[in-house]
Amino acid sequence: MKIIYADNNATTRVAPEVYEAMKPYFTEDYFNPSSMYEPARQTGHAIAEARKTIADCLGHIDPKEILFTGCATESNNTAIIGAAHGNLNRRHIITSTVEHPAVLEVCRELERNGYRISYIGVDRDGKLNVPEFIQALSPGTLLVSIMHANNETGVIFPIDQLSRIAKQTDPGIIFHTDATQTVGKLSIDLVQGYPYVDLLSFSGHKLHAPKGVGALFIRRGTRCRPFMLGGHQEEGRRAGTENVPYIIGLAKALSAAMENREKDEAQIEKLRDRLEKILSEKIPSIRQRQRRTPSAEHPQHIVPLYRRRGHAVPVERLRHLRIERIRVHLGIAGSVACPESDEGAVYGRPRFRSVQPEPVQYGRRHRHDR
Ligand SMILES: Cc1ncc(COP(=O)(O)O)c(C=O)c1O
Repeated sequence: MKIIYADNNATTRVAPEVYEAMKPYFTEDYFNPSSMYEPARQTGHAIAEARKTIADCLGHIDPKEILFTGCATESNNTAIIGAAHGNLNRRHIITSTVEHPAVLEVCRELERNGYRISYIGVDRDGKLNVPEFIQALSPGTLLVSIMHANNETGVIFPIDQLSRIAKQTDPGIIFHTDATQTVGKLSIDLVQGYPYVDLLSFSGHKLHAPKGVGALFIRRGTRCRPFMLGGHQEEGRRAGTENVPYIIGLAKALSAAMENREKDEAQIEKLRDRLEKILSEKIPSIRQRQRRTPSAEHPQHIVPLYRRRGHAVPVERLRHLRIERIRVHLGIAGSVACPESDEGAVYGRPRFRSVQPEPVQYGRRHRHDR
């Protein structure tokens, strides 16, 4: 039986066109872009082009505002630690209780070092408590780090509104968002749509580029101190020889995702609806989460499923569910690493209640698999 992978929030397969674009940079154009001779300079140009492609996909920002990293975890660490080290006169950070550990653990580490952290909660629908956020803003606030879409519930947080409020309260506040689950899936224009976002993280392997490459948008003028020292690469913001093939792959993947976004979205939505229907027919003891918020607030690729109250969890069936030709392995990559990311934390209810989220994520390559 052919397996159709449906856990596309955890990772995605490298798209064939991405793989093709990367190939020459392993075996032919493999030069160190920092070297002076001509072929190496060409490799450097390829990186510059990739940076420009990504900058254009994010609202035609200045390519210099893109910093290449190894993953979203590194981007988040760079953003938060870099902001803290670059602005030592402020020691208060606002984040949410439902961030990925790549944000939460960094905040906790800063907390251990004397920073005050406000953790903003979410309601029963997974939506951020905006009044609590507004109340948390204070004169010493250094940084806000709130994710764009939650990797478990798919709920999108109103980053445009939150960043505007933060800047209107105090233009000195730095606003970071972890957009790992939205870049390549939603339209993100950092000039028109999100002018108050200073730092934005994302990762290649969530959008059909390989694992091992990510990026951080750093708006011009944002004080964010580098912590990878030892070389002049990335304009001195991240030392270390550039991962040329993967950077090329990231640019190719993002431009392909943006080019096909509307078409893919419609297709994925159809697949999601079909899966939801089949699942609720075949397993009566699970239910879908009611979409009290408009479906536009959920990235279309997420199908959170819940055990009905009073029903046993059909763990084995859920784990290796065979429906028509589809076998879905349920579960999320972050759940083991982040014990707080249980239902209680994600949906703002007491822990260990009778419902358990199990997201299933379709990806843009699924239409090729059918
Ligand atoms: C919201 C969010 N942030 C960060 C990460 C970490 O990404 P990476 O694996 O690229 O470090 C993930 C990955 O699951 C994620 O979903």
